[in-house]
Amino acid sequence: MLRKSLMNVGLRVVHRQRQKGIQRFTIEHSKIYGPLWKSTYGPLVVVNVASAELIEQVLRQEGRHPVRTDMPHWRSYRELRNQAHGPLTEMGAKWQRIRSILNPRMLKPKHVSSYSNTINEVVTDFISRVARLRETNGHGVMVNDLTGELYKFAFEGICSVLFETRMGCMNEVVPEETQKFILSVGEMFQLSQVIVLFPKSYWPYLTFWKKFVAAWDHLFKVAEELVQKKMDEIQKQVHLDENVEGAYLTHLLLSDQMTFTEILGSITELLLAGVDTTSNTISWCLYHLAKEPEIQEKLYQEVIGVCPGDKMPTSDDIAQMPYLKAIIRETLRLYPVVPGNARLTVENEIVVGDHLFPKKTLFHLCHYAVSYDERIFPDAHTFLPQRWLRGAEEKSKQHPFGSVPFGFGIRACLGRRVAELEMYLLLSRLIKHYEVRPDPAGTTVKPITRTLLCPAKEINLQFLDRGVEQDETRTAAAAAAAAAGVAGTELGEKAPQFSPVTHCMTCTYLLIVQWFLGFGLVCLQYHI
Ligand code: HEM
Repeated sequence: MLRKSLMNVGLRVVHRQRQKGIQRFTIEHSKIYGPLWKSTYGPLVVVNVASAELIEQVLRQEGRHPVRTDMPHWRSYRELRNQAHGPLTEMGAKWQRIRSILNPRMLKPKHVSSYSNTINEVVTDFISRVARLRETNGHGVMVNDLTGELYKFAFEGICSVLFETRMGCMNEVVPEETQKFILSVGEMFQLSQVIVLFPKSYWPYLTFWKKFVAAWDHLFKVAEELVQKKMDEIQKQVHLDENVEGAYLTHLLLSDQMTFTEILGSITELLLAGVDTTSNTISWCLYHLAKEPEIQEKLYQEVIGVCPGDKMPTSDDIAQMPYLKAIIRETLRLYPVVPGNARLTVENEIVVGDHLFPKKTLFHLCHYAVSYDERIFPDAHTFLPQRWLRGAEEKSKQHPFGSVPFGFGIRACLGRRVAELEMYLLLSRLIKHYEVRPDPAGTTVKPITRTLLCPAKEINLQFLDRGVEQDETRTAAAAAAAAAGVAGTELGEKAPQFSPVTHCMTCTYLLIVQWFLGFGLVCLQYHI
């Protein structure tokens, strides 16, 4: 009993430390050990790669069926419940088959641009939701917990693309099932990074594992209800001899290339991958635009230049907004949602730097550390979208693997095009409608890692209606909000600066936990 509760306390501490620091440690460790070093975390042995040149070498040798990691915990859940693997967890030729079925309608420009109207409808509702939140809960200007709100937007957006169905997340009251889905995703990601530190034989005895299984159960349950609902609709239409038309899921169900269980496995993983990723990125983006009024104004001018008056942006219009794209690019450099990707060599041994690595080597690609490499991105801690504009002097010097937020090669992000479309449409229309200003309480928000890179606390921003509120009214509303909060706006504040960390606290806590558990869960770093 004592041992169990000590274990839980110890793990909570480890967990908190890992959340706070893991990506910043990659920067510090790369300073100590150079761009290539080895770490052991209990049963896991990882080769860390923290330079653009070496990351390129790993990725260019990834073979025909690249594997990120073997994801034993995610795969074990599927085996336990007899569920199919989707694109995130499948491997080898089976993975290739799934991708070849899922890719066309997710990545081909003509299919992706056909989702513009659907996504624009969700954006329209989000803009109205912002108006409502300001009135009901924000002194007429504030939107609190913007990431939480954007999470609902992203869930609604991806569901409307995948299921051709609205989920009601933009309504005044968000459905209970959806709220629970959101909580389950967060919990599953958080537990994932702890469970993987333990040998598989320990999992059935861990409270964490039971919670992890329960979270996945809920994710699959929600997805199954949605897939089943669509299937019933199609059957009804067929029964009535109606023409069956539809987008993503309808296409999958009609094409007969996958079984129901396979479709469910893939749709669940698409839902999982398609929500936190876009919502966190847009949150950081608005956070910076609020602090950098000149950048925001430049974006506003670009948007009203391409889409004057009430014109709704289409994907053709977005193609004429290079500054908008540069802003998203720069946001993903400073806050890569996947801060550290991975590759497991399965097919061949590979050469990286001056070293030959055997099959089954697990590489941790330290994208976060490379994003802040001053040699690739001068003034790396500053939010500078212009560095991504064609012709910019800096762009020509950038290494192509300096920032690869959607990954690389045939295993790269399946939802990239849809994610970009969602982010471009939402951001352009939000900025056209509202001027965004920082939280008058002057709160600084830093990133933490919960498998994905997330804001460590709530992001609260002011949204001033450009159309309705004239300059003086906007300023008065902002002043009222400031008076209601704590004084001190932080305009022009730079991206997070990192204080040097000389000692790895994670190691200390892992050692304590190891002592309680009696197995070799130690975090050690080695020169290679
Ligand atoms: C800002 C938004 C997003 C970012 C930055 C992002 C980033 C990534 C990254 C880095 C990977 C790993 C790629 C690799 O290993 O080379 C990935 C994989 C994946 N992403 Fe995204 N993603 C985003 C949005 C989405 C969305 C909206 C969806 C779903 C519609 C999605 C679905 C997936 C899937 C299914 C995979 C696994 C692909 C495979 O292993 O074959 N992502 N994403």
